[in-house]
Amino acid sequence: MNMTSHLNMTSHYRGLIERYRDRLPVSSDTPVVTLNEGNTPLIELFNLPNLLRKNVRILCKFEGLNPTGSFKDRGMTMAVSKAVEGGSKAIICASTGNTSAAAAAYAARANIRCFVLIPEGKIALGKLSQAMMHGSVVIQIRGNFDDGMRLVQELAETMPLDIVNSINPYRLQGQKTIAFEVLEALGDAPDYHALPVGNAGNISAHWIGYSEAAGMACGSCNHCDGKCPYLENKLATRRPIMVGYQASGAAPFLRGHMVDDPETVATAIRIGHPVSWDLAWAAKNESGGWFDECTDEEILRGQKLLAETEGIFCEPASAASIAGVCKDLELGVIGEGSTIVCTLTGHGLKDPDTAIEQSTKPVVVDAKRAAIEGVIAKHLGG
Ligand code: F0G
Repeated sequence: MNMTSHLNMTSHYRGLIERYRDRLPVSSDTPVVTLNEGNTPLIELFNLPNLLRKNVRILCKFEGLNPTGSFKDRGMTMAVSKAVEGGSKAIICASTGNTSAAAAAYAARANIRCFVLIPEGKIALGKLSQAMMHGSVVIQIRGNFDDGMRLVQELAETMPLDIVNSINPYRLQGQKTIAFEVLEALGDAPDYHALPVGNAGNISAHWIGYSEAAGMACGSCNHCDGKCPYLENKLATRRPIMVGYQASGAAPFLRGHMVDDPETVATAIRIGHPVSWDLAWAAKNESGGWFDECTDEEILRGQKLLAETEGIFCEPASAASIAGVCKDLELGVIGEGSTIVCTLTGHGLKDPDTAIEQSTKPVVVDAKRAAIEGVIAKHLGG
């Protein structure tokens, strides 16, 4: 007898392609490559609004709880499934870290080759370890993400490689599902949806998802040439205002032009030439939203604040959404009574070095009760 036959497997979550099959460009012939990504928690913050003395609802969509620890898994299950469907034997991407981790994992799952180009010395250790551990060929370039992105496109012109960066339209199709999950959790769109912006695929994907769910076409979609097949079966009556936050040293959307030497502690968004430039502007303009910037100091303060006051550990880039929202609440740009969703794009464990650097160092004492009591008493104020 099959040992599991008594279990009800029909309710078993099998990843976002199965969950949203009717809203994604897949068929019954598509081999689904999944690690059961998606279905991430939407966590309401309680301490932070109190601290800010603001009567608002802030909810975090914690994408760090995806299988490889970032939102990239949503796009990668689609991109790799479609690559395999098309007969591809190898994928390639440029990455600031998370895309390479996801590509490596899904390529391993699909049993195909994976090549990743990363900027030497500028990706967080956790992400590098993932790409290496999953057996991808890791190529460190003496250049930045934008150089890598250009090279990947050149290489794919002549070599048998499928690009799995977000210029691959299937990536955005997978990532749009985050909007569906938010809508299902809240019943309708929040007033604002805030997220960090780097290569700008994710804000575009959010907008595609929200637009489709509200039955409205949008200018962020590079898949269906304006003839969206998914406008039926509405999940929402309206769309949120989209707010994109960039790191000050890597803020082409704020400057209004590409930036050649991007620099920020939030290495995930250390990008000066975003490929989804037009799509992200469409998301901002059509939603009545805005872009803003956060300094490295504000980003790290936001990361620490979230970790200490709410118990949620996200990576620095993700904290740009929290830092930005705090600032806009204080300025009154986002008003009282609002419901705000922040996408926390990646897990804090991805970048332990930055976390340790900004935290109080552990005390070292002898392995004696009195010594430890002394430390505890000091902190209890006794
Ligand atoms: N947050 C995290 C944690 C990221 O890894 C990225 C992008 C972003 C935000 C920005 O998203 O590019 O869609 O605007 N990381 C890519 C990578 C570039 O290679 O991992 P975006």
